[in-house]
Amino acid sequence: MRRDLPRSLDEDADASAPVVAVSSVAQAYRRESLWQKGRGERLIAFAGVRRGELVLDLGCGTGGLTQQLAELVGPDGHVLGIDPDEARIALARHTALAPNLEFKVGTAETLGEVAPGRPFDLVFSNFVFHWIRDKQAVLRLMRGLLRPAGRILVQCVSSLPALVAELSRLADPSGEQILRDFAFEDAAALARHVEGAGLQLLRLEEQHGTHVYPTLDALMTWWQATTHDRFDPRAVEPAALSRFVERHGDGGAFRVRETFCWFEARLPPTHAWGRGG
Ligand SMILES: C[S@@+](CC[C@H](N)C(=O)[O-])C[C@H]1O[C@@H](n2cnc3c(N)ncnc32)[C@H](O)[C@@H]1O
Repeated sequence: MRRDLPRSLDEDADASAPVVAVSSVAQAYRRESLWQKGRGERLIAFAGVRRGELVLDLGCGTGGLTQQLAELVGPDGHVLGIDPDEARIALARHTALAPNLEFKVGTAETLGEVAPGRPFDLVFSNFVFHWIRDKQAVLRLMRGLLRPAGRILVQCVSSLPALVAELSRLADPSGEQILRDFAFEDAAALARHVEGAGLQLLRLEEQHGTHVYPTLDALMTWWQATTHDRFDPRAVEPAALSRFVERHGDGGAFRVRETFCWFEARLPPTHAWGRGG
């Protein structure tokens, strides 16, 4: 039996990480997103990546996981990382250097143009699908890029953490707009999209985790970076922020409880009896 992802990733919480001044939003994202990375590493371990494979990392961000995938496929393999955020791709190109590693600016919705005609062994995507509105259409594009024996592995957040929603809404009106841009869907909806895209769902799990931000600054810096600088902490009234701290601060720390899903899918097996004779 294949190894399960952990039920709770609480142990990933990097409660002692220092809060460093933000020099750029992409760098801040890399620094503040260690828990997404930790969960992505578990997904990579589950993926059983082999030497020589061709891998697509959709929504690769600053490229940390993409680089790990490149190490696993080795010099005979190749990894393509795609992300619409030019600053994140620039940082990825700058820091993740390997001959078998390539980064492109592009979106999930335009996958066919960004990665034309490439038959991938693995299409991997960590914490990106909650930004994608038409998941079924993107899954169809992924399906078109798979080798017959290829697999798709996706992990995403399935509902908005209440604490984050409350924080975001304090930055009126931009904080509310940011929340509308997410497209959270639960496990049942994801299963329908996978099957609707003509893929076979091999496995789907919903999980819960808590990430502890050691300070309010750490929480706000992460949310600002993850929303690509659209959440502006300066837009929050100090009095409203004090009330938020009184309600949710736990000895100065903030606990974000989230629900997320991961699934594995592949092309359906062809039915020999469907060929006649
Ligand atoms: C939470 S980050 C995850 C980054 C990386 N996969 C990781 O685990 O570290 C989500 C990424 O999805 C990208 N993204 C958002 N919308 C996207 C879309 N429509 N197509 C592809 N990527 C998208 C963002 O630019 C961002 O870098």
